[in-house]
Amino acid sequence: MKSNRQALAWGMIASSVWGAFAQECTTSGGLWNFTSQASVDLVTHNCTILNGDVTVSPSYSGSLTLNNITNITGEIYYYQNQTVDLTSVDLPDLLYAGAVDIENTPSLTRLSAPKVTEVPDGVMVVIIANSSALVEFEFPELVDTNGVILFANISSVDLTSLESTQFVSMAGTGDGIALDFPSLREVGMLDLVLSFSSFSAPLLETIGTSEGLATGDGILLWSSGDPVDISFPKLTYVAGNIQLSENINSLSVPLLTTAATTTNTSEGGMAIYPAIPFTVDFTSLANASSILLDGNISSALFPVLETVDYIEITSTLPFNCSSYDAVQARAETTAFADKWFCNSTYTNTTSTTTKATKSDAGRPVPVGVGLSGCVVAAMVGLLGLSLW
Ligand SMILES: *[C@@H]1O[C@H](CO)[C@@H](O)[C@H](O)[C@H]1NC(C)=O
Ligand SMILES: *[C@@H]1O[C@H](CO)[C@@H](O)[C@H](O)[C@H]1NC(C)=O
Ligand SMILES: *[C@@H]1O[C@H](CO)[C@@H](O)[C@H](O)[C@H]1NC(C)=O
Ligand SMILES: *[C@@H]1O[C@H](CO)[C@@H](O)[C@H](O)[C@H]1NC(C)=O
Ligand SMILES: *[C@@H]1O[C@H](CO)[C@@H](O)[C@H](O)[C@H]1NC(C)=O
Ligand SMILES: *[C@@H]1O[C@H](CO)[C@@H](O)[C@H](O)[C@H]1NC(C)=O
Ligand SMILES: *[C@@H]1O[C@H](CO)[C@@H](O)[C@H](O)[C@H]1NC(C)=O
Ligand SMILES: *[C@@H]1O[C@H](CO)[C@@H](O)[C@H](O)[C@H]1NC(C)=O
Ligand SMILES: *[C@@H]1O[C@H](CO)[C@@H](O)[C@H](O)[C@H]1NC(C)=O
Ligand SMILES: *[C@@H]1O[C@H](CO)[C@@H](O)[C@H](O)[C@H]1NC(C)=O
Ligand SMILES: *[C@@H]1O[C@H](CO)[C@@H](O)[C@H](O)[C@H]1NC(C)=O
Ligand SMILES: *[C@@H]1O[C@H](CO)[C@@H](O)[C@H](O)[C@H]1NC(C)=O
Repeated sequence: MKSNRQALAWGMIASSVWGAFAQECTTSGGLWNFTSQASVDLVTHNCTILNGDVTVSPSYSGSLTLNNITNITGEIYYYQNQTVDLTSVDLPDLLYAGAVDIENTPSLTRLSAPKVTEVPDGVMVVIIANSSALVEFEFPELVDTNGVILFANISSVDLTSLESTQFVSMAGTGDGIALDFPSLREVGMLDLVLSFSSFSAPLLETIGTSEGLATGDGILLWSSGDPVDISFPKLTYVAGNIQLSENINSLSVPLLTTAATTTNTSEGGMAIYPAIPFTVDFTSLANASSILLDGNISSALFPVLETVDYIEITSTLPFNCSSYDAVQARAETTAFADKWFCNSTYTNTTSTTTKATKSDAGRPVPVGVGLSGCVVAAMVGLLGLSLW
């Protein structure tokens, strides 16, 4: 007679070094489908390694804590259509999981895996409901993962050890959170559409050089919070778009030499739409595909620019376009001489200072900037296309 209870098969591997046991457990069908914390505890009392996938039933309620479990060989997930009243997910002993994918959990306030170092197929939290709950996201030891996606309102993010990943995408309102990526060296794409109060990525050198990235990848930063300064002190290379919008004071990219040259520039490039007076100094930028600066641009310098497909600067502030004569003269040695456009639309003067340009036929269409909803939709689309 079959019982509904999960059949546990035991494998005991003595670890002479630690004097402890690794207990590997398997279940029929390879799916641990828990209905309550009590049913979880029955398993975690005897197991350290769970073979297969871990999920909860839609009737699960409250917190989920997997004590003792160091390895989930498959995925820990919830992605039924129905929402589940899961309030927190704690994985205190976990070192490894194939993937972490928590969706449709409007009450979720925490996803925490303080020891996990490796999640090869990525980590994802998607709150598919109008949840005002703020999620604390804690993966301080995570070094390597395919990607991190948070579509949620976020109270804090800890990705202190993350060094390399295909993408980091976050969209939600957040609450003026600090976004720090102290260990990040390379990322395929960095999309952050939320309210952040500070940002740092001190070691980030390259964006978008990994294989298999779609056009439009690169940097997208859209902050609805207080004005923030964005600095990438080590960034040298961006393959893809750089798109900044809304409340960003300044962009510092002192070592950036190359931007957006490997994508089809008809579909993107660099697009910056500041709502507040914005300064940028592309001190080292030599080669770029397209550059759009539109809005409250107070200063934008390109001292060493060599080649560019298209530049358009439209400032709502008094802006001296003749400051680009020298840059333009240099660029006129390239095939893109007719792709320069500078226009101050500041209205307190009798004359606008206008520089050059024949047509804007080559004007690239920026991807997904401006409306957060569109950005989220684009990101979800991207998720479907390139992740799972
Ligand atoms: C963790 O495993 C140990 C050893 O098997 C056990 O004594 C303890 O109760 C387990 N903890 C939980 C929360 O199940
Ligand atoms: C866990 O192990 C104990 C003895 O070590 C056993 O009595 C108990 O039935 C086991 N629990 C499960 C769910 O198999
Ligand atoms: C888990 O079990 C519940 C019933 O308790 C069921 O509704 C749900 O579909 C199961 N989940 C999966 C992924 O099979
Ligand atoms: C966890 O399990 C996976 C899959 O079996 C294995 O590749 C990995 O090495 C294990 N990790 C740890 C820390 O036990
Ligand atoms: C889940 O919802 C989507 C969209 O509402 C629907 O297309 C799909 O058929 C649903 N799947 C299941 C298993 O109910
Ligand atoms: C979210 O709220 C909006 C407006 O209040 C409503 O139209 C929409 O159906 C809600 N969505 C969900 C998934 O509850
Ligand atoms: C974030 O919160 C706002 C309002 O509090 C809500 O409208 C929005 O749907 C929430 N977003 C998510 C992803 O839950
Ligand atoms: C670039 O993209 C545009 C618009 O999608 C397309 O018409 C054009 O053929 C593409 N060019 C190349 C070289 O792929
Ligand atoms: C520029 O900033 C001023 C005030 O700082 C604001 O009123 C105006 O709307 C901004 N322009 C744009 C295009 O965001
Ligand atoms: C810019 O591009 C030109 C032509 O492809 C190349 O010779 C030069 O080295 C590039 N400059 C930098 C700083 O990458
Ligand atoms: C400058 O921008 C304004 C507002 O977009 C536009 O009306 C004007 O025609 C532009 N000037 C030139 C020379 O394109
Ligand atoms: C507009 O121009 C007048 C006269 O030059 C000057 O007094 C005033 O400060 C200007 N206003 C702004 C907002 O720049």
